[in-house]
Formats: sequence, structure tokens, C-alpha cells
Amino acid sequence: MSIKVLLQSMWQDYCDLNPSAKKIHDLFEDKGETVVNDHIALRTFQHPKLGLKVLARHFEVLGYKKMGEYRFEEKKLYAEHFEHVRGEEPKIFISELELHRLSPFVRDECEKMIAQVPATAPLNYDFLYSGRHWTMSHATYLALAAESEYASWLAAFGFRPNHFTVSVNHLSKLADLPTLNAFVKQNGYVLNASGGEIKGSVAVHLEQSSTMARPVLTEFSDGKFEVPGCYYEFAKRYPLADGKLYQGFVEKSADKIFESTNRQ
Ligand code: NI
Repeated sequence: MSIKVLLQSMWQDYCDLNPSAKKIHDLFEDKGETVVNDHIALRTFQHPKLGLKVLARHFEVLGYKKMGEYRFEEKKLYAEHFEHVRGEEPKIFISELELHRLSPFVRDECEKMIAQVPATAPLNYDFLYSGRHWTMSHATYLALAAESEYASWLAAFGFRPNHFTVSVNHLSKLADLPTLNAFVKQNGYVLNASGGEIKGSVAVHLEQSSTMARPVLTEFSDGKFEVPGCYYEFAKRYPLADGKLYQGFVEKSADKIFESTNRQ
């Protein structure tokens, strides 16, 4: 397994589930841009069987190293980001839901889902884009969403990239977020406006924007329902005092970006 093959498999899964992300990607390329990924984000439950550390292992064996950690108090999430030693590959951002901090109802529902995942499945790299391993009713999905949108997204879609993020630093015509955001909106896509369309600033060395996740028709035990899928993100990085581009993440911005999968 090479990093290229793994990232390509993850991209394929993401495009299959979210054709609109692929369309935006192609619109950029039609404009003559070369699309380079800044990072790819994954979501999971905090659990010994399939938590952040288990997912991260697949990247560590391919040359990634942990470079930062983050907490999201209100959303009850812990996250880490990983960078490849070569520095050319996209960063990997993995978050996990802190089950012990949730209500007994949400915790029990999450435990039931985790119990349905075969013990050895998370040890294979293809677990990173394996989707859902359980049956789930739409009623339960909605009940989960009432307390944690993050839990409901995981319940509906399982293990797969939550978003890919375009590196705006690598674009030539859409080289700043106001220009890029205007282009994306002109083409009919809705941006996440929670906390303003552009999260972050030059002062924190990172600006981000993202589309709102489009609804995906999803099979539940009580029928097929549309629920928000994945979003596409855009990140522009600025240099630190030493002249090197900042490579970390800004908690306050990421907190709002997470809301790109909220139901509208
Ligand atoms: Ni992101």
C-alpha cells in the first residue's frame, strides 16, 4: 500500500458520495488550476477499537507524524493532525467524539454501532473509506443529531473522508479566498456562513472557507432519507515569523467548519 494509492482510494470514495465536490474540483481545473490538497479530515469515535490512534496508525506506517493536537469543548471532540515527513502530501486531520462526555442515550447508541464493527476491520487500511458497518434508523439518526451533529454524521456515513481541502496557496487565478468564494458561489454552491464565510485571518496564519454539505439520499432501516453528506474546504496559509507557512489548525475556525455538515 502506497500513500498515493490510499489517498486516491479515499478521494474516489469521497467523490462517489459527493459528486458536487468533484464538480468544484473540475471547475478549478477547467480554469487552468492544478488542485493540490492541503488536508483530508476523518471522523471517528473515541474508542480503543477504532479511535483516532487506530486510524492514525495507517498513516504513521506510511511516513506521517503527529504534529498538533486540538480540543473542541462544546462539540466534545479531540483531534490531532499529521504531516508527512516529505512535506508534499496532504496533512491528515483526525477528530474523535469523546463518548464519555455525551448523554447516556448518545453514548449507548454509539456503543451499539461500534459493537457491529468486526474487531479486525479497523486494522486494515481500507477501513479508512469503509463507510457504515451497522444498521440505523432515521429516527435514531435525528435523535442523535439533536445532541451531536457529529455523532449523527458518523452514524449515517461511518468511516470515510469527511472532507478534502484545497490548498489555495497552490492556485494561481483563485489565489485568495474572497475570489475563490465568489467563483464557487457563482457556480451555484452554498458556503458555510457560520462565523462568516472566511474563518480565521492573516493574524492566526490560516484562512478557511467551505461549502455546506449537500444532502445525500441514504438508506436507513426505516427508509431512504436525505441527510447532509460531506463538504469541500479551501485553506490559505500564511507565513510565521520564520518565513515558513503555518501548517497547524486554528481551533476557533475548525469549530465553525465542523458545522458544514449541519442540517440546513
Ligand atoms: Ni478541514
